[in-house]
Amino acid sequence: MSKVLLASRNAGKLREFSALLPDIHFVLWPAEAPELPETGAFFLDNALQKAEGARTWWLEHGTEPVDGVLADDSGLCVDALWGGPGVLSARFAPDLVSYRDKNHRLLAMLPEGAARGARFVCVLAFAPMEGVAFTVSGAVEGSLAYDHRGERGFGYDPIFIPEGHDQTFGELPADTKHTLSHRARACAALRERLGVVRE
Ligand code: IMP
Repeated sequence: MSKVLLASRNAGKLREFSALLPDIHFVLWPAEAPELPETGAFFLDNALQKAEGARTWWLEHGTEPVDGVLADDSGLCVDALWGGPGVLSARFAPDLVSYRDKNHRLLAMLPEGAARGARFVCVLAFAPMEGVAFTVSGAVEGSLAYDHRGERGFGYDPIFIPEGHDQTFGELPADTKHTLSHRARACAALRERLGVVRE
């Protein structure tokens, strides 16, 4: 089993990575570590920035050896909002605390009759402790629900209906989300890439 530092404090992401990559032991980004900047215009820039930033910090302050650092930059891209909130998903509606309220705000921003197409996108950056970082990505197409539905998952899950389903990610069992989500697809690509790297 390899040991990997997860450059995130998002509990929803941690839960999903533990289920999607059960052969990896994740070390959590410590509470005393700095907030990792994500100032890029693209998911890929931010994922790399977080993975490399976390690796640099860990090399100086890390409390245990790890094989590498994994960072995820992801978000919801809504067609009627020109792809937003996209890379700004984590910073959308900062005046609101709960995702129930953020989700209602996002749905209210759609003009009446607007197309409801949307997709979740995930870019993973893996930075080995020695060597060059790389990225993989995954996406899932779908549409926006008309209301916040279900309490499963996290973030925007209760307003996103994946293609081929009638229920939102907030209503579907975690196992179903893990067969088709943006993060599941990116993790499948990561597993393949790590396998190749090890050969
Ligand atoms: P970041 O990658 O830390 O910039 O944050 C991504 C944000 O996108 C999260 O805080 C969520 O709001 C949203 N997001 C990413 N993946 C998911 C998901 O699988 N379900 C619901 N929301 C997600």
